[in-house]
Amino acid sequence: MSSVQQDKLLLRALRSEPLERPPVWLMRQAGRYLPEYRALRQEVGSFLGMARDPEVSAEVTLQPIRRFGMDAAIIFSDILLPLEAMGMELVFDERGPSFPRPVESMADVEALVEVQPAESLAYVGRTLELVRRSLPDSTALIGFCGAPFTLASYAIEGGTSRQFMLLRKMMYQQTQTFELLMDKLTQVVIDHLRFQVESGAEVVMLFDSWAASLTGEDYRRYAMPWSRRVLQALEGLAPRITFAGAAGHLFEDQIELGAEAVAVDHRMNLRQALDVASGRVALQGNLDPALLLASPDEVTRRTRNLLESVRDQPGHILGLGHGVLRLTDPDCVAAFVDAARGA
Ligand code: CP3
Repeated sequence: MSSVQQDKLLLRALRSEPLERPPVWLMRQAGRYLPEYRALRQEVGSFLGMARDPEVSAEVTLQPIRRFGMDAAIIFSDILLPLEAMGMELVFDERGPSFPRPVESMADVEALVEVQPAESLAYVGRTLELVRRSLPDSTALIGFCGAPFTLASYAIEGGTSRQFMLLRKMMYQQTQTFELLMDKLTQVVIDHLRFQVESGAEVVMLFDSWAASLTGEDYRRYAMPWSRRVLQALEGLAPRITFAGAAGHLFEDQIELGAEAVAVDHRMNLRQALDVASGRVALQGNLDPALLLASPDEVTRRTRNLLESVRDQPGHILGLGHGVLRLTDPDCVAAFVDAARGA
């Protein structure tokens, strides 16, 4: 067997090599649906406390790997931590994340500090080193960042938003302020992803969770150029996966971003998406995460159907259309992962 054939399944799928089975991992595979996560979270006391402690983060990253044996681990962290490193106070409570003092003016954007990830995000690097040491040889390690547009939405809205009114107002009416913010975020994202690769991440993923709130025209004007800059800066350093939520209307743009893979939402038909992509990128997905609220037998049946629909198509990574939901039964995650292995 050549060394290439012995390479990790995820890395081979990202090169669109023909494989005996697709690699499988799930967004949010570490988290509150796991009793061992809830126990550790109770002990530590807070999500941010967990994320900033490399020993705890490494343990949480490894929990799903031990239990289910996915083909990839994604480091336990959050897309919002680099904003905190830029000087924005970050709060996590029952209602989710918030920034009590969001960015409103040019002066606010100018006040955001430059980030040296090896200093203010050192704990992320340390977590990656610890995880890498304990991971089975066949399991790939994924690092990630939010895309500039999605990070800008949090910086401007001060939290998760439905209509993104403040963001859209700044985008159209204070375009220079918006663009300087995007430029600054882009630099932080590039530096943070490079730092993660230096620390042991073998694949990087860019989460643009709210990009799909834009029309194609505005996505190409106000978001895509900055994501493209990030991906170009990582070219050749590590294979790249992009994700943009329910972004069927942006699918062609997602392909043109230039990453090795695009994660597709469950509202798209995977077979048709693979036909459209026609070998230009690998695709990751795309079972509906809510389907994991059904019985394990139903999960097995529906996952097999999904796999059957794309059988013998190279460049497929089995995953969900979005993250694992909190009320998911771990047995359903096991059924999903086992279906990929043909068990
Ligand atoms: O996927 C993984 O297992 C790795 C870890 C990871 C987390 N967040 C941990 C987390 C990743 C990759 C993220 C990315 C993230 N964070 C995104 C992009 C992906 C997406 O879902 O669209 C976004 C938008 C965030 C911001 C964020 N973090 C929100 C809105 C929330 C609250 C909502 C929620 O699901 O609780 C979080 C909290 C968060 N991030 C949790 C976890 C495990 C839950 C924390 C807890 O209460 O214990």
